[in-house]
Amino acid sequence: MKDTALAAKGHLQIEWASKHMPVLNQIRERFADEKPFKGVSLGACLHVTKETAFLIYAFLVGGAKVALCGSNPLSTQDDVAAALAEKGISVFAWREQTTKEYYWCIEKTIDHNPLITLDDGADLVGTIHSKRADLLPRIKGGTEETTTGVLRLRAMEKTGDLKYPIIAVNDAYTKYLFDNRYGTGQSTIDGILRATNILLAGKNFVVCGYGWCARGIAMRAQGMGANVIVTEVNPLRALEAAMNGFRVLPMIKASAIGDIFVTATGDINVIRKEHMQKMKDGAILANSGHFNVEISLKDLEGLATSKRNLRTNLDEYVLKNGRRLYLLADGRLVNLAAAEGHPSEVMDMSFANQALSVEYLVKTERMVPRVYAVPKEIDERIARLKLAAMNIRIDKLTTEQKKYLTTWEMGTI
Ligand SMILES: NC(=O)c1ccc[n+]([C@@H]2O[C@H](COP(=O)([O-])OP(=O)(O)OC[C@H]3O[C@@H](n4cnc5c(N)ncnc54)[C@H](O)[C@@H]3O)[C@@H](O)[C@H]2O)c1
Repeated sequence: MKDTALAAKGHLQIEWASKHMPVLNQIRERFADEKPFKGVSLGACLHVTKETAFLIYAFLVGGAKVALCGSNPLSTQDDVAAALAEKGISVFAWREQTTKEYYWCIEKTIDHNPLITLDDGADLVGTIHSKRADLLPRIKGGTEETTTGVLRLRAMEKTGDLKYPIIAVNDAYTKYLFDNRYGTGQSTIDGILRATNILLAGKNFVVCGYGWCARGIAMRAQGMGANVIVTEVNPLRALEAAMNGFRVLPMIKASAIGDIFVTATGDINVIRKEHMQKMKDGAILANSGHFNVEISLKDLEGLATSKRNLRTNLDEYVLKNGRRLYLLADGRLVNLAAAEGHPSEVMDMSFANQALSVEYLVKTERMVPRVYAVPKEIDERIARLKLAAMNIRIDKLTTEQKKYLTTWEMGTI
């Protein structure tokens, strides 16, 4: 990692996060009593943030040995990495890595010979399968944090290339409904504002995609007074966006009127040459999808006659047509690169899913190599714990209602 002198600051950041993660706190306390990970080695490839650090602490008190690398070259919080290293964790992460350095860190994490892997985007699992296949028989299972990772792992499962079981943490209700939607929604706006400090009110704000992340971004941009335009390829999602009150347009039409563009599709080249050529002078481009492929950097570089850095995470490209486009955070996920990622309150649930899924993999007999859902009991337990932490009570079905909902005899009366 970058600098051990940052550790003191990192400890304070982690302490602050921990105060907003009540569910993970309870799980951590149980792990401290039960030590479910005694002698277990974990290899994690996650964004190195204060919330991730608190997850790692939960594993540590539960008896695990952990090696950690970042899941994006631009998302590591260096103070947090330093604090983790001071606690004796093997950390291979610093902010602003080259692609080569990024994969070197992944390989170093693999060298720790994990029994269980935790991944965010499937680069760790992909590297083990392609370069360190000798380790595959030993690995009992893994977890995957994000939509893009789950898509890649399902593709591996389909072609028979997946050699150990993975629990798709992303697909738990207590993950995507909150993390992807409210977490990405708020932190993407946060990243755009930190990088630009522009006023959103009155701006034409184009959201590419209307999945869980994009829904959150659209909702929050609208809340700040922007005129939100949605682009989609899926008719159901486009319809939903339209009925939620957003203007839906093809990307080529949106290109000409947008002031700010944000991609959150998990897809490649969503904003490309023909769109950039139509954009207004001063348009701002950001991405919140997992990989930096949603905005074609190749096309942007190809169209530009010059490029300069104006502010942290804000580059100006002057195009051959004389217009200037502004790219945030090199097209990497803007909420982690330009801000701090999701707020602790949502990571509380995402990482409670990680913690309990890893425990499940450790305690369960070796499973067939497939992509699995988070067990429903875990999802429901996390929702109940979160509600309790928020001091929210809900009703219980009466015996009569239980019977009514599970029988067919009673109809119109
Ligand atoms: N920034 C973050 O912190 C963060 C958090 C969670 C997920 N993610 C990532 O964000 C991305 C989206 O995740 P999600 O959970 O919202 O996925 P999702 O599957 O719910 O939604 C993706 C949407 O994009 C649409 N889409 C695909 N190609 C498109 C195109 N060319 N133009 C317009 N729309 C298109 C799809 O139809 C779908 O509706 C993934 O890469 C995921 O890994 C990022």
